[in-house]
Amino acid sequence: MVELTLPKNSKITEGKTWPHADGAKREREFRVYRWNPDDGANPRVDTFYVDLDHCGSMVLDALIWIKSNIDPSLTFRRSCREGVCGSCSMNIDGVNTLACTRTMDEVKHETVRIYPLPHMPVVKDLVPDLTNFYAQYASIKPYLQTETPAPQKEWKQSHEDRTKLDGLYECILCACCTTSCPSYWWNGDRYLGPAALLAAARWIKDTRDEATGERLDYLEDPFRLYRCHTIMNCSKACPKGLNPAKEIAEVKKMLVERQV
Ligand code: SF4
Ligand code: SF4
Ligand code: FES
Repeated sequence: MVELTLPKNSKITEGKTWPHADGAKREREFRVYRWNPDDGANPRVDTFYVDLDHCGSMVLDALIWIKSNIDPSLTFRRSCREGVCGSCSMNIDGVNTLACTRTMDEVKHETVRIYPLPHMPVVKDLVPDLTNFYAQYASIKPYLQTETPAPQKEWKQSHEDRTKLDGLYECILCACCTTSCPSYWWNGDRYLGPAALLAAARWIKDTRDEATGERLDYLEDPFRLYRCHTIMNCSKACPKGLNPAKEIAEVKKMLVERQV
């Protein structure tokens, strides 16, 4: 049998247990992934005790409390704190989600375990490197393409045509879906992944866009699109309730239909 071992410097080690806050009466234990590219040390998992009486109810509130009160070097992304910007995505209790919309009460285990989004290179602590993810998004040309001269005021769209974009335009590019997709884990260099494919579907379905043929040509590729094996992890992971797997299936159907 093949024995698989991780390279020595990638093994996650037991980290530091930080002291309890003075006078805290109600606490929750947090175990948080740490990695600093500058110190040459292995990644580790640190233990923190969050004072629940002086902290908001969301997982993001707890991370901000830790950063403000215990360890200012703890690194994570966040901006809007209301599920709009997509920057606080991370793996909480084994699930890819947004730290700002996940309450601590929703975390089933008493200890809250937090890791960066899986299968992405890490920049530092909970910050994944999304360079490839954004390049793949850019590759589907996420903007209106037309040949008809632009109208003086605006491109009009009927109410009915506009509703065709529901379930597509709401994507906040958090990458929770793409980083939960096994096909993306193994072929992320060539498979576009559910977020980029959902965005592709958004522009294919936009009745104002005039590059549908070119868009479908780009996707008609054994890797870019057809690495999706309808495993559905993406749709389960989406914190905005979107369904990338369904949209990918519809794009595949369009490709079949244009051949007959
Ligand atoms: S349905 Fe497709 S995109 Fe979604 S997780 Fe499965 S393989 Fe990945
Ligand atoms: S489809 Fe959902 S999970 Fe995927 S990037 Fe968009 S908002 Fe995030
Ligand atoms: S901070 Fe913007 S989505 Fe969480």
